[in-house]
Amino acid sequence: MSIEGKVQVVTGGTSGMGLANAIELGKYGPVLVGGRNEERLAGAVEQMKASGVDAYGKTCDISDRASVEEFVEYARSIGQIGGVVNAAGVDWGKVSNDALIDINMVGAVNVTEAFLPYIDDGVMVHYSSITGYFFQPSAQDKAVWDNPNDLNFRENWKQALVECPHPSPAPGLGDDFMYYAGSKRFIMYYTMANAKRFGAKNARIFSIAPGSFDTPMLRGGVGYSESTAKGTAFGRFGKPEEMACLIAQLMGPGHDYLTGCDIVHDGGKLAMSLVKQL
Ligand SMILES: NC(=O)c1ccc[n+]([C@@H]2O[C@H](COP(=O)([O-])OP(=O)(O)OC[C@H]3O[C@@H](n4cnc5c(N)ncnc54)[C@H](OP(=O)(O)O)[C@@H]3O)[C@@H](O)[C@H]2O)c1
Repeated sequence: MSIEGKVQVVTGGTSGMGLANAIELGKYGPVLVGGRNEERLAGAVEQMKASGVDAYGKTCDISDRASVEEFVEYARSIGQIGGVVNAAGVDWGKVSNDALIDINMVGAVNVTEAFLPYIDDGVMVHYSSITGYFFQPSAQDKAVWDNPNDLNFRENWKQALVECPHPSPAPGLGDDFMYYAGSKRFIMYYTMANAKRFGAKNARIFSIAPGSFDTPMLRGGVGYSESTAKGTAFGRFGKPEEMACLIAQLMGPGHDYLTGCDIVHDGGKLAMSLVKQL
């Protein structure tokens, strides 16, 4: 199992942690990044090239299966696919909850399904979030999540939330935050549900749960404040490069048994939220 010398793909590779992933993965082979905004895409490719990466870019909207399939075809025209990082995602309160479900949840399914046939001996990584640990899925949630390719997935999950409402994981942030936390818990669940399918292709899949990393998403959201930064063991936000370094290592040689799990990378934020510190 090796991603070395093969094409690395990063959805949402035009900003924040995805762009850092794209630059770091350049050490393994050519890198293709995708995003919706053409100007941001061009800027990212330029930045990657300036860092010495054999860089490629193509617009892609992960909430649109046809767009993802075109993206996969373009990736395959570059060479054999090695690693895929799905860093595309949106924050709560920035888009409608329907759009959030379509991007954070259905988008992850689109990326997985479209790349799976071509990922033999490779690795796929999804971004969850530590917020996902504050959403405990109900039996109704799981019944919907067990059918991720259902064309009515979004409406089915919204119905499940009506049948079994969840208390907001962070009172004060309201329902939008609950949708976001749920979407990230789904990423963990869906990643685990794919371990066997990937294993059958001698491929791996895992998700990574950031706490607070200093990216345009964090800066534009309610989570960006000095007090939030202090809620970590080091009193600061994570750097996108720190995330990129860990992910590239875990995708690379020496980790062939790591699959079907979520890895927390948060500077101790979850630990400090859950366990009284000594
Ligand atoms: N930053 C944090 O502290 C933090 C914490 C927990 C989890 N996360 C998760 O980590 C991931 C990366 O976050 P980030 O902070 O690096 O975000 P970011 O800087 O806002 O970057 C998000 C990227 O996703 C792309 N994107 C959004 N919607 C898309 C779509 N429908 N199709 C394709 N690309 C799309 C954006 O480009 P376009 O808009 O041009 O499409 C952009 O390249 C996200 O899944 C986020 O939820 C982040």
